[in-house]
Amino acid sequence: MRLFDVYPLFNIEIVRGKGCHVWDSEGNEYLDLYGGHAVISVGHSHPAYIQAITDQVNKLGFYSNSVINSLQQKLADKLGAACGYEDYALFLINSGAEANENALKLASFHNGKKKVIAFKHAFHGRTSAAVRVTDNPKIIAPVNEGLEVTYLPLNDTEAVEAELRKGDVSSVIIEGIQGVGGIQQPTDDFLRQLRNLCTKYDACLILDEIQSGYGRSGKFFAHQYAGIKPDLITVAKGIANGFPMGGVLISPVFKPVYGMLGTTFGGNHLACAAAIAVLDIMRQERLIENAAKVGAYLLDELHKLPGIKEVRGRGLMIGVEFEESIKEARTRLLYEEKVFTGVAGTNTFRLLPPLCLSMEEAAEFLRRFRKVLQA
Ligand SMILES: Cc1ncc(COP(=O)(O)O)c(C=O)c1O
Repeated sequence: MRLFDVYPLFNIEIVRGKGCHVWDSEGNEYLDLYGGHAVISVGHSHPAYIQAITDQVNKLGFYSNSVINSLQQKLADKLGAACGYEDYALFLINSGAEANENALKLASFHNGKKKVIAFKHAFHGRTSAAVRVTDNPKIIAPVNEGLEVTYLPLNDTEAVEAELRKGDVSSVIIEGIQGVGGIQQPTDDFLRQLRNLCTKYDACLILDEIQSGYGRSGKFFAHQYAGIKPDLITVAKGIANGFPMGGVLISPVFKPVYGMLGTTFGGNHLACAAAIAVLDIMRQERLIENAAKVGAYLLDELHKLPGIKEVRGRGLMIGVEFEESIKEARTRLLYEEKVFTGVAGTNTFRLLPPLCLSMEEAAEFLRRFRKVLQA
């Protein structure tokens, strides 16, 4: 059997990782400014993370959601304390798309409405409703087209109000910082207006913090810079440092009903053990503060590089846009300077390193980046 060929691959096999470094099958070491697409939060192969998963799998890897799994409550307690949403409830699933899928459903169950407002260049995942609210017609299949969605420009309050005024909008879904869209940020003021408008017109505000959350922005959630509280918050990626997991944080106004949501694998013992270890490590090693500090340094220094059009982002979620295509520079950075980075479109580097990136590693990245740009 061959693999279904949907990914353009680099000719590199990564076989080992430690902190912010990974090694390929030939023994080459790379600096990881990509974090496996914003997934590695506490660093590769953190000893406490390995220990937690090992201990758990030695006891029990999985049992179903038909019996008590106290690890889920332990995770909810720690997550509530870490992000300041102690009064919210947690529903656990296995991926970001599923988190958004469930958030969109919860909103619609709650207010009985059908339409969704999403934003231009948004990415929310590839399952049925999540892909429908993603602004990319190439990945929306005819079978996904049923859900009614209006895509509006980011930061356009008037356009949002004009749409909400029609009275049929169930939810507004927005990324804390757009990732795939190229590190585009809603302004703090726009988020505050969105919060007020959703309340005024009885629509649910869903904050997709799948990429921008879990400390990446320098606060637990990127929307916390705006001081707002969404109705639903979706998380995944960094939550379990690579173990597949997603979650929806649900405001107390939503009332659960047996059977309204469900999953086989979501919140399983191993995933919970991994996610608990992540929160413990983040607290002990002050990784959110680190993301803020190292991110501020990088943002400052990146502005000084040649050929830059714009540097955007917060914490360790950074977009570096150039006037020209970055294709060659990114390839050279990877193969010659041994640095993994992400991209958005043709001209923007996306930096999404593990949150433990040190000042020395950031400086080393800048040194290698400069070398490629000056060549
Ligand atoms: C903002 C955002 N939402 C949702 C998703 C989908 O997550 P997953 O691939 O885990 O389904 C992603 C993945 O890149 C994302 O960046």
